[in-house]
Amino acid sequence: MNDLDLVIGGGNVVTAADSYAADIGIKDGRIVQIGQGLTGVERIDASGLLVLPGGIDAHVHLDQPTSDGTVMADDFASGTRSAAAGGNTTVLPFALQIKGQSLRACVEDYRRKAAGNCHTDVAFHLIVSDPTPQVLGQELPALVRDGYTSFKVFMTYDDLVLNDAQLLDVFEVARRERALVMVHAEGHDAIKHLTRRLEAEGQTAPYYHAEAHAQIAEREATHRAISHAQLIDVPIVIVHVSGREPMEQIQWARARGLKVFAETCPQYIVLTAEDLRGLNMDFDGAKYVCSPPPRDVDSQVAIWQGLRDGTFDIFSSDHCPFRFEGEASKDNPRARTSFRWVPNGIPGVETRLPILFSEGVSKGRISLQRFVALTSTNPARLYGLYPQKGSIAIGADADLTLWDPTLTRPIRQADLNHACDYTPYEEMQITGWPVRTILRGRTIAVEGYVRPDAGGRELSRAASEIYSRGT
Ligand code: URP
Ligand code: ZN
Ligand code: ZN
Repeated sequence: MNDLDLVIGGGNVVTAADSYAADIGIKDGRIVQIGQGLTGVERIDASGLLVLPGGIDAHVHLDQPTSDGTVMADDFASGTRSAAAGGNTTVLPFALQIKGQSLRACVEDYRRKAAGNCHTDVAFHLIVSDPTPQVLGQELPALVRDGYTSFKVFMTYDDLVLNDAQLLDVFEVARRERALVMVHAEGHDAIKHLTRRLEAEGQTAPYYHAEAHAQIAEREATHRAISHAQLIDVPIVIVHVSGREPMEQIQWARARGLKVFAETCPQYIVLTAEDLRGLNMDFDGAKYVCSPPPRDVDSQVAIWQGLRDGTFDIFSSDHCPFRFEGEASKDNPRARTSFRWVPNGIPGVETRLPILFSEGVSKGRISLQRFVALTSTNPARLYGLYPQKGSIAIGADADLTLWDPTLTRPIRQADLNHACDYTPYEEMQITGWPVRTILRGRTIAVEGYVRPDAGGRELSRAASEIYSRGT
């Protein structure tokens, strides 16, 4: 008698620890057997392919309102469609609190936007922009207990920045409630100062965004966030680390035994500030405006070293898509007057895994195990989804990505599923692409084609594993 619903047969199974040839047996959306010669009602032949835990993109922005009226290109449907095509089975978007808004009401808004529209599973981080006594004393603790076990704070952006006292208050709540704080570490006053100076000198093209968001300002804020976390004795994640200088602060903290975790993103390994020049300092550079901005080749080298040596725990996209053309886009009339008004953020949820695989694994810079750790297992562990997600093991959700390590083709906007009108990685040659994405035993994407019905669920999360590691 055959009681497996599905067998993924003949592939090379890769986890964060090892790789081996095996069949995977799936029943009711879970992995129930790993072995040789398995048979089931259905069989997918994975010969010649890698079988990876589904990608987990722990940093994406979907359907977020902006204060200046620009519109995020992706909603939950298009953003998760794009994620699925790119080999992801879970994404972690943000529920962004607008100042004055109840955090609970904000979460319910985002849950409504996501419900029934997601092609991958989703789990929300919170963004705390208004840490009132009500938020700190009641809403945030209650939300953490309801499974929203991580939240992001900003050290810059007029409408999001928290001052040092507020950061310390939020860190206190995180420590008490065993939540994980993600920190956007860029020094607000330094950026404002540099922006004013550049504008006074007439340096307003998108390129100058990279000068205004200087690496020194990122380094300073990274150290400040670490110091605050040390004072409170709370773990933090420094997100979207762009270069050598903030990395050195993270290494400084780790050398002292502090629980400081780090994330980096595709833009910091394959783009540089030079891309913001566009064609001869024109507005095309706006396509690459994100914060922190891409740096230089020296920082790329440092980041690769950090991806190898464990300075970085996770590799996320920071998918934050704005259309380049049209109304409410990057190319809006105000943005033409100064880089300060160009919406910050670039798309990347569909290209994150191919870029890291191609530049990392195919070019021999990182191992397959490290690739899986950075893109699936570690995000699951850090954000309270493990072992349901992020592993290929008995009992885990059957979230799998079949990967062709030899398939070579360029990234092309025309092939992508996001609702953005460009990719910053146009024509980048990639070796290694996802060919099938399987969510809880059900194929959701094949070679860029995503099945139309949206079967993703919202996940509730446990506390981050770092609270139970005891180190
Ligand atoms: O430029 C970026 N990264 N925009 C997204 C918001 C953020 O800070 O992550
Ligand atoms: Zn950020
Ligand atoms: Zn972000």
